[in-house]
Amino acid sequence: MIEEIEQLKREKNAVILAHNYQRGEVQDIAEFVGDSLELARKAMETNAEIVVFCGVDFMAETAAILNPDKKVLIPDTGAICPMAQQLRVEDLKAMKRKYPDAEVVLYVNTLAESKALADCICTSANAREVVNAMSSSIVIFGPDRNLAYYAQKATDKTVIPVPQHGLCPSHHQIVLSDVQKAKEAHPDAKVIVHPECIPEVQDIADYIASTSGMVRICKEHEPGTEFLIGTEIGLLYRLKKEAPDKKFYPISDTAVCPQMKMHTLANIARALEREEPVVRVPPEIATKARRAIERMLTI
Ligand code: 13P
Ligand code: SF4
Repeated sequence: MIEEIEQLKREKNAVILAHNYQRGEVQDIAEFVGDSLELARKAMETNAEIVVFCGVDFMAETAAILNPDKKVLIPDTGAICPMAQQLRVEDLKAMKRKYPDAEVVLYVNTLAESKALADCICTSANAREVVNAMSSSIVIFGPDRNLAYYAQKATDKTVIPVPQHGLCPSHHQIVLSDVQKAKEAHPDAKVIVHPECIPEVQDIADYIASTSGMVRICKEHEPGTEFLIGTEIGLLYRLKKEAPDKKFYPISDTAVCPQMKMHTLANIARALEREEPVVRVPPEIATKARRAIERMLTI
């Protein structure tokens, strides 16, 4: 199957972009593995005619918005991020009416129709910089309230979360007692977590970073360093592969994003062969959403 995928990629001038949470075998056949920000950039840079996007819906939509001339395929259309569904367009419009002078920063984990209403998009890698780069003193921020907490700590602006209870189920289930237990078992380990984790977990961590930020930080440490990793467990595959001289332990081994695991070698081969399912964003929504994504890339 790997040979078949490699041959189809050559024949069709296709590349595979994979998020850091993908299954190991999917990471291994990808041209590039990264976080949301890196994947958006890579999708813009590639000369390939077809991009097979192994990530969740909002990431593939972002790639399609930035590449109207390329065919973006998502091997399994069931790869839908539950957090991106939590922000209702009506709630966002109501917030905009309530705070007419505020600017809207939306996490990239949103649907294209929400992005079309944003002033700027952010990812976990740049949320603090983006919020601080806004000209208004009030920033409406959604949908992840944990990322809103992380951004609020680094700014004098008022960050107003919308909705009140936006969260990632896979990260939200990592609780303080998981960190404490992991620290008891590995007292010398550094704690490194994703900003989608709850505030109590963020506050106890040595580092908070995006998925690729976590990889960079771990690689910079001395050989033999131990790390407790607070994110979706797919990242451990990449960490162990790229930093074999360090030791990695998940803070919670049930932190799994089932939607991220839907892409397999079988459905990737099928997508390449049939050139579908194609990710489509209506042009009027794509044009508005692109403006907010490009503002982020400029910042
Ligand atoms: P990163 O941009 O840090 O890879 O995060 C994406 C995501 O969905 C985390 O749950
Ligand atoms: Fe969405 Fe959470 Fe999965 Fe990331 S880990 S794609 S935020 S559900």
